[in-house]
Amino acid sequence: PSDFSLSGKAAAKVVVLGASIAGLTCAYELGKAGYDCTVLEASGRVGGRTITLRTGDRLDELGGEPQTAAFEEGTYFNAGAGRIAPWMVTMDYCRELGVPIETFVNNNASAYVYNENMTAPVRARTARADLYGYVAELLAKASNAGALNRRLTADDRERLAEFLRRFGDLGSDLTYRGSERRGFETYPGVDRGVPLGATPSLRDVLAAGTGRAVTMDFGYDQAMPMFQPVGGMDTIAGALADAVGRDRIRTGTPVTGIRNLPDGVEVTHRGGTVRADYCIATLPPHLLARLPHNLGTPVTAALRTPVPVSAGKIGLEYGRRWWEIDDRIYGGVTETDLDITHIWYPSHGYHSRGGLLVGYYNVGPNADLYGALSHSDRRKRALTQGKKIHGEKYRSELRSSVSIAWRRTPYIEGGWVGWPSHEGAFALLQRPAGRVYFAGDWLTQLIAWQAGAMESARRTVTELHRRVLSAT
Ligand code: PHE
Repeated sequence: PSDFSLSGKAAAKVVVLGASIAGLTCAYELGKAGYDCTVLEASGRVGGRTITLRTGDRLDELGGEPQTAAFEEGTYFNAGAGRIAPWMVTMDYCRELGVPIETFVNNNASAYVYNENMTAPVRARTARADLYGYVAELLAKASNAGALNRRLTADDRERLAEFLRRFGDLGSDLTYRGSERRGFETYPGVDRGVPLGATPSLRDVLAAGTGRAVTMDFGYDQAMPMFQPVGGMDTIAGALADAVGRDRIRTGTPVTGIRNLPDGVEVTHRGGTVRADYCIATLPPHLLARLPHNLGTPVTAALRTPVPVSAGKIGLEYGRRWWEIDDRIYGGVTETDLDITHIWYPSHGYHSRGGLLVGYYNVGPNADLYGALSHSDRRKRALTQGKKIHGEKYRSELRSSVSIAWRRTPYIEGGWVGWPSHEGAFALLQRPAGRVYFAGDWLTQLIAWQAGAMESARRTVTELHRRVLSAT
């Protein structure tokens, strides 16, 4: 409704389960409309999977050793959410809440691509130039030889060739012989510069398998420019929590049961009971499914349907920003087919004394593999892998590290979830179960994004409000 206020009705009481991005957004929006919200949060912090670790912060793990970040002052590690696309509603909340943002470098031509079958890493610009170059050559020559005549007129072919010459930096004979786009051994200055060594053959370029790496930012959700809050991703959660009112948020309060009553809801938690008119549950579905409740068997079955996905990250702190000084990498991502998958370089603090890399960001089996190790073994393994790209300094200059295994993170137990299908269970949980509503990225098409949590929250509070307005 356009009238997002209670229009003279008594303030309905809403208990929100989880000070997640979804839960905080619900409480924030309902608070604007005059609702009386209480947020129950199991862990000691707000933000859910928006975790930023700074020195002294402790990270607990189910069945594992706790870690305490021992970073330099000013160093932070976004252990969860890390980047925002400009079209996402997250940007609107940053603006509204006064959270300053800066560019998150998600594509850096100077970062590396490294696959196990390579003898040395290549710069992303080199991998891209060679792949685009040869693909353009093949297509241009196929078209020139008439192979596409059934699809293309003579005019089409001329226009296509004109594009492909640009796309691949081809010679006038439509051959790719390498290009300045590959980069240089020594970059031009007063002198012309020293080009990189010989351009690999088409066969070698295909065998290198750089296709995934050079297309990773092609999607609408990964394309530059992307953004991050200045000072850490948890600034968003903190600003939401401040706007909700910290006195309305009870951390360290795990929920133990949810009951629909004829005229309200009753939520039990370690330490008491909360009665309210409505409840919005934002816990991960597989955790909600384990809670005692009276929402019915179909709801339990639906909550069990989405499958948790493992994800992991390690923050590697260095006393020297060697990736900038030695490698000229300012932000961005190195893509690999190693079990670390990605290395993220920081998009802030350029040229400051030290800094923190994300030494792995992996999902599924690779995340399980690291997650099963002790923290020190995760670090060892991550260093062994990263050394293949960056050499000995990757190990020798390390200052400190913290790793997270999302599947083993208390009260979260997953990086995100995947739905086998978007029918049935997915649709059922969009609807309230009596007076209990659900919200979370897991109920959207934006799983594993803060924006999904926010969009879901907005939809849920809109529906709840519509119901309150129509109730007499
Ligand atoms: N949002 C997360 C990220 O950007 C996870 C994700 C990756 C979600 C790719 C969708 C696509 O890393």
